[in-house]
Amino acid sequence: MSALNLKDIYNSFLKELTAGVKNRDHGMHIIQFGTISSSGPEIRSVVLRRVHFDPLKIFFHTHADSPKIKELLVDPRSSIHAYDKTQKKQLRFSGVSTLVTSGSIYEEQTRKMTASASRCYLSPYAPSTLLNDYHPNLPDIYMNKAPTQDEKLSQYPKMTLIEFAPHTLDALWLRAEGHVRLKANFREKEVSLSWLAP
Ligand SMILES: Cc1cc2nc3c(=O)[nH]c(=O)nc-3n(C[C@H](O)[C@H](O)[C@H](O)COP(=O)(O)O)c2cc1C
Repeated sequence: MSALNLKDIYNSFLKELTAGVKNRDHGMHIIQFGTISSSGPEIRSVVLRRVHFDPLKIFFHTHADSPKIKELLVDPRSSIHAYDKTQKKQLRFSGVSTLVTSGSIYEEQTRKMTASASRCYLSPYAPSTLLNDYHPNLPDIYMNKAPTQDEKLSQYPKMTLIEFAPHTLDALWLRAEGHVRLKANFREKEVSLSWLAP
């Protein structure tokens, strides 16, 4: 018999994910995002920017011309992995992603983006373009300085917000006294939870 409460454990996993948004040192600040390409699975690190609840949504920023966008337009099925070494908690989500390029959440994220970070979205080449010579892919004028806030907003960055909606979560907590693992199934605002063998 387990004295652990399934809902409490589930909430403790979400608490860690939420901490990853604001705390740059948290293990879940950088998460891994997986997509399906024509040549097989793809995975990369991205910065966790925002989490919504009921229903759960996970957000990050990316460049509109990056290969992951093309992959999502063909097949929105995607996955997110996160691990926090301090809490020894792993999250594995699978779900679908939507591209967001307007609206209040998009505007808020764009406003919050630092001018320095916005340089990535003013790059002369599309990300992942093959180059004959090394190039940092920053605009010449902003190579050594960040755009001012006004410049940033006037040259609207090629930023796309990815909104990931999970269908399932497999969450694992490593503990000396016995690992803990659960499965969450998401259906609109409903979440059904069950234990999984660790
Ligand atoms: C620590 C770290 C954080 C990153 N954050 C982001 C991010 O928030 N958004 C993003 O598009 N790429 C980010 N990247 C770069 C991606 O991992 C990836 O190289 C890039 O997005 C190109 O991916 P794609 O060719 O599959 O589209 C980050 C890389 C690292 C190492």
